[in-house]
Amino acid sequence: MLSINLYRMQSNKNNIECCLIRVRFCKTIGGILMKAIVWTKYGAPDVLQLQEIEKPTPKDNEVLIKVLAATVTAGDCEVRSSKFPLWLWIIMRLYIGLRKPKRITILGQELAGKIESVGKDVTLFKKGDQIFASPFFGSYAEYMCLPEDGVLAIKPANMTYEEAATVPTGGFTSLHFLRKGNIQSGQRVLINGAGGSIGTIGVQLAKYFGGEVTAVDSTMKLDMLRSIGADKVIDYTQEDFTKNGETYDVIFDIVGKSSFSGSIKSLKKKGFYLIANPTLSKMVRGKWTSMISSKKVITKMAKDNIEDLNFFRELIEAGNLKTVIDRRYPLEQIIEAHSYVDTGQKTGNVVITFGL
Ligand SMILES: NC(=O)c1ccc[n+]([C@@H]2O[C@H](COP(=O)([O-])OP(=O)(O)OC[C@H]3O[C@@H](n4cnc5c(N)ncnc54)[C@H](OP(=O)(O)O)[C@@H]3O)[C@@H](O)[C@H]2O)c1
Repeated sequence: MLSINLYRMQSNKNNIECCLIRVRFCKTIGGILMKAIVWTKYGAPDVLQLQEIEKPTPKDNEVLIKVLAATVTAGDCEVRSSKFPLWLWIIMRLYIGLRKPKRITILGQELAGKIESVGKDVTLFKKGDQIFASPFFGSYAEYMCLPEDGVLAIKPANMTYEEAATVPTGGFTSLHFLRKGNIQSGQRVLINGAGGSIGTIGVQLAKYFGGEVTAVDSTMKLDMLRSIGADKVIDYTQEDFTKNGETYDVIFDIVGKSSFSGSIKSLKKKGFYLIANPTLSKMVRGKWTSMISSKKVITKMAKDNIEDLNFFRELIEAGNLKTVIDRRYPLEQIIEAHSYVDTGQKTGNVVITFGL
């Protein structure tokens, strides 16, 4: 493999900027290489390997994105280690690969970056556009291609790449479930597991929809939850919300750790119990409860779409939605980043940086 480093001096009116352009040629195929985190085995974070692989070329209907920020979500860690409720484990293994990952070999479900080039049929984006996106995996790489009608949109002008990359996954899931909860102004909404990627956006969306929000999480996250708008907070290490006699119009259980019967009891008549991480048993009991009572249980998964991404941009630019970033790791420290998220203790989001 031949590796050439070119130092280029660029001047602009105020300063002289030195950029390092690394161009790496693959001897065997003549293509340009890029850094990516390749995933070839299910297991602990050290199954993730930093490799140099061929930089993709956009098809006629695709854009080539220079990835400038990605994230490590709880979902990435669950996929990496294949830790799911049984029903989901079977579906995921059948889809990704029974013994080892085959259909998905680069993780990373969200990103922000810049369009580097576009295929000849692309009309929606142009070179230089700053975007945020929700690819179906693949963002742990310096470049990736997406169809122009994929789930990508112009990045909010008032967010950095690192901030914008954290929005799609938490945003789609929160918006999907909270819309199903049909929150009316002044209704009481409880969010369980509010301090993570989904919950920090969920708290703000529930407030935006007019709810009076109670956020449940561990002690160290409560001040942050108040700061993003929670009206009340409950420390789950001290108090079980299903046993304190309070009732809610909507309970959004993001971590899926609240007791089913306790949560149903804590719902008002015609209330909604929204479960982002349901077991098969909760899905079956949910269907039954929805059939025989006025209370509705929603377990259907969220779907990503461009309209919602544009909705998030509008909310963010209007100052109605912000993001919470806990830690940042360079791509090269992906194992450390996954190990931290595996602890379950992250506050908000963990970002992967690409040396802007
Ligand atoms: N249904 C869907 O469409 C969908 C989409 C994406 C993700 N998900 C799933 O949703 C789940 C959560 O995702 P996330 O990204 O928000 O995770 P996250 O960022 O890890 O946040 C989870 C939060 O829950 C807290 N928590 C842990 N145990 C708790 C308990 N017993 N009671 C209350 N809070 C508790 C954690 O804090 P401490 O650890 O400090 O206690 C953490 O703040 C994941 O399992 C993910 O796979 C579902």
